[in-house]
Amino acid sequence: MHQEAFEFEQYDQLQDEICAQRIISAKKALGKRAVILAHHYQRADVYRHADLTGDSLKLSHLAAQTDADYLVFCGVHFMAEVADMLSSPAQIAILPDMAAGCSMADMANLANVERAWRELAEILNPEEVITPVTYINSAADLKAFCGEHEGIVCTSSNAGKVLEWSFKRREKVLFFPDQHLGRWSGHQLGIPLDEMVVWNFDEPMGGLTPEQIKKAKILLWKGHCSVHQMFQPQHIIRFRNQHPDGIVISHPECSIEVCKASDYVGSTEYIIKTIAAAKSGTRWLVGTELNLVSRIAEEFKSQDKIVQFMSPMVCMCSTMARIDPQHLAWALENLVNGNVVNQIKVPEHEAKLAKVALDRMLSIS
Ligand code: 13P
Ligand code: SF4
Repeated sequence: MHQEAFEFEQYDQLQDEICAQRIISAKKALGKRAVILAHHYQRADVYRHADLTGDSLKLSHLAAQTDADYLVFCGVHFMAEVADMLSSPAQIAILPDMAAGCSMADMANLANVERAWRELAEILNPEEVITPVTYINSAADLKAFCGEHEGIVCTSSNAGKVLEWSFKRREKVLFFPDQHLGRWSGHQLGIPLDEMVVWNFDEPMGGLTPEQIKKAKILLWKGHCSVHQMFQPQHIIRFRNQHPDGIVISHPECSIEVCKASDYVGSTEYIIKTIAAAKSGTRWLVGTELNLVSRIAEEFKSQDKIVQFMSPMVCMCSTMARIDPQHLAWALENLVNGNVVNQIKVPEHEAKLAKVALDRMLSIS
């Protein structure tokens, strides 16, 4: 039975603890009809309510497997889009705050990618030569572009495998939007740095000469994560000077200089698992988002492991942090009342093509 929808203004000033109680009650009332998925970067006061947590790849698998009516996504916009596309048509994906975007995903848009494709066609035949690969941190229409042009999606945990798959089919890759993940993954496959060139979408022909394009194995989109760009090699040097036995682990959205200076590089799930499996008494420097690092620092204290954040600056994923207890309480209590707020629904024609690229990724992950 539907009742009038609650406006968010009624929740804006609610105290966090009151929100927490109301979230717990709403979850109880919804039972198995709703599932809360949260990315590892989610703030603690929201993460505590999650039923399912993971990195982008794990959350994609989980979204495809759950049979709840409502998938309440505490992450960012592209993650809720993926949940919508991988769940059944009757299931509903919800993003509690529509302002929870990803600044990296916004660095590539369909118009720019289509323009790049057209410009590349002036010197080679992209349909025969280039596989478009989009990081999952991208809008659904870019995934659809990849689906349409024999391309594929990747996440930070399978980018290497996805590149191998791509190079078996075509000789070059156009990788967007994260140049750092593309460069690190290409480097891991042994591709020389001078065969990975940056495509600057603000300049004609990406700012590259025809010779550079012909020589390149990977064209890297000029995009980056504003959080991971904060980590610098000097943070690692300082740590190693102070703690020669310390271990460094970073996310592949960091620069190649940071990744090279690290002992381990991998997705958020990989980071958690690696530290969980480490010996007690070890000390770690971690180059990824602050909410995650603070959570594991607390969690692994009992195992006598010291976990430190890599940057002296506070760097959080501020867009993901838009999902706060107030928005979560608002979305859930509306569901209890029979009202869906903030549904994420990818248009059907786009979802169909995007799913082709997502399914290619899932089949090799
Ligand atoms: P993973 O979830 O793949 O580790 O990536 C981190 C990220 O930036 C999510 O947006
Ligand atoms: Fe996007 Fe960076 Fe936030 Fe990940 S951490 S969601 S890449 S802005």
